Amino acid sequence: MSFSKHVINKINEEFESKRQRNEDLRDTRLAEVYSKLPEIKTIDKELSQTGMSIMSCALAGKDGLDERIKNLRERNLELQRERAIMLASRGFDESYTDLHYDCELCQDYGVHNGKLCSCYKNRLIEEQFKLSGISNLIKTQSFEAFSLDLYENKEEMGQLLDYATNYVRDFATVKDNILFVGGTGLGKTHLSTAIAKSLIEKGYNVIYETAQNIFFDFDNDHFRDRFGDGEPVSQKYLDCDLLIIDDLGAEAVNSFTVAYLYNIINTRLNKNLPIIASTNLNSKEIRSKYHDRITSRLFGEFNIKLFTGNDLRKLQK
Ligand SMILES: Nc1ncnc2c1ncn2[C@@H]1O[C@H](COP(=O)(O)OP(=O)(O)OP(=O)(O)O)[C@@H](O)[C@H]1O
Ligand SMILES: [Mg+2]
Ligand SMILES: [Zn+2]
Repeated sequence: MSFSKHVINKINEEFESKRQRNEDLRDTRLAEVYSKLPEIKTIDKELSQTGMSIMSCALAGKDGLDERIKNLRERNLELQRERAIMLASRGFDESYTDLHYDCELCQDYGVHNGKLCSCYKNRLIEEQFKLSGISNLIKTQSFEAFSLDLYENKEEMGQLLDYATNYVRDFATVKDNILFVGGTGLGKTHLSTAIAKSLIEKGYNVIYETAQNIFFDFDNDHFRDRFGDGEPVSQKYLDCDLLIIDDLGAEAVNSFTVAYLYNIINTRLNKNLPIIASTNLNSKEIRSKYHDRITSRLFGEFNIKLFTGNDLRKLQK
């Protein structure tokens, strides 16, 4: 599990402001109640004193204090009952001035029983979806929506689907690079989105982007003055758990894009961080478009998976 630092910081800040908001709400309500029922302020003072006395008696742990603790507890309960009755007399619920939590389980700290609370995890996943670049695609392009009925070659495509679901299942240990190759409208983007969605739900930091946009980000970082600007935008393409490069080959190739692609592939191979790339180009076109240093890695280090059949976009019309 490795959500991006940026996302984690954002969610932590969000949780902190949630706690602050609830504390502010409690303070406002207390002020309201004290102004309408000043006696409650006196009760609260005594409640906090009895609470502290119980605590110090318990810590002292001496014989003979048991009776005193018992008395303090009784007084404490009595005060609470009195307080509730007073609140009710003015139409307030007895929990009106209690500290309220958005999530009772973790009291808005994001941790429950030593593990990340589900409220925190869900926010992480939601935010990671936004960052991944596929938040629009995932609504329609999931494994569930990937049908084999549309293909003539159901068996081959079925094997490809199995390969993709196993890829997600085994991602923690097997980090293959994949090159999806095939003509337009055959499901390459759909299947890579489905993989991304499932892996994000498992807690991985997956980034999806077209080759063109990835190189655009590298260009921007390369040509702008970066001093004092923090981490370059393109850094995420080198660091994420899985990078999905869509439409490789559709970009206008120049010496910069080739250098960026080489850097991405090489850096990620060295860090054992996989890439799934999709392309319309056949192997001959790939060789003529990219430098040997790139093609030797694409053909040597990537599992090539072929998509065949008829353009599903046409079938859908
Ligand atoms: N197996 C499938 N079941 C249902 N819908 C599918 C399937 N494969 C693809 N589609 C749908 O068909 C359309 C085209 O698929 P997709 O965009 O994945 O093709 P592609 O191979 O990436 O094409 P291109 O090379 O033009 O990018 C999309 O709307 C997609 O959701
Ligand atoms: Mg596509
Ligand atoms: Zn929670």
